[in-house]
Amino acid sequence: MRLVLFGPPGCGKGTQAQFLGGEFNIPHLSTGDMLREAVAMGTEIGLRAKDLMEAGALVPDEVVVGIISERLDRDDCVNGFILDGFPRTVAQADALDNLLTDKGLKLDRVIEIQVSDELLIQRISGRFSCLDCGFGYHDRFKQPEREGVCDICGANRFTRRKDDNEATIRERFNTYNAQTTPLLPYYRSKDLLAPVDGMPGIEEVTAEIRGILNIS
Ligand code: AP5
Repeated sequence: MRLVLFGPPGCGKGTQAQFLGGEFNIPHLSTGDMLREAVAMGTEIGLRAKDLMEAGALVPDEVVVGIISERLDRDDCVNGFILDGFPRTVAQADALDNLLTDKGLKLDRVIEIQVSDELLIQRISGRFSCLDCGFGYHDRFKQPEREGVCDICGANRFTRRKDDNEATIRERFNTYNAQTTPLLPYYRSKDLLAPVDGMPGIEEVTAEIRGILNIS
């Protein structure tokens, strides 16, 4: 299964990718996570990306395409992958097409998670994640089962993203509307786009995606 999870900041791409990756036993490839790791490690890519990410702008296409190209070559992608946050421009989508064509592969689906702007802001502003394993939570919508303890790895240290502040969120929405929404007609014309109502709770959204992917 080769999937793209598509949608605006905070719609639930990462949340759904974590579940679906486990279900299909395929990797969840988030360019945002990869770039944040590069920033934390102070690599050359991280140094190029840091200020752009903090401003809510996109990192240059050639940087993210290079990251994804290298990542798709790894053995764990042989049975498929879930892309989260990539592609984000038409140039990135064309590059992905070319990478897959060279391997004799195609995407199966592009799932578009639709959520109102008001709810996106609520979701982003309450988000936090485990500092050790990266599993995602929310102050109101998804707290750890035991307060202060990660459900997945048992760690007790959590973190909030630096770009989850009001000014940067506004810029991330502008960037999404200007540079990423042109991918909707792009994938619709290829008959790959499947819209999903992302407004209900996490499990209901997962169920809708499972229905699209024909998982009982
Ligand atoms: P990235 O990390 O990709 O951020 P994003 O697209 O802004 O998306 P988010 O991670 O904010 O949201 P999400 O949809 O994953 O929501 P989540 O599941 O966490 O990118 C960050 C930056 O990196 C970009 O701004 C850019 O600078 C750079 N970048 C990344 N990729 C790039 C690319 N390809 N090209 C160029 N630059 C790139 O959910 C949010 C919260 O809501 C969570 O707390 C969750 O628990 C909760 N929640 C989720 N679903 C539900 C639900 N159904 N009900 C209730 N709560 C829910």
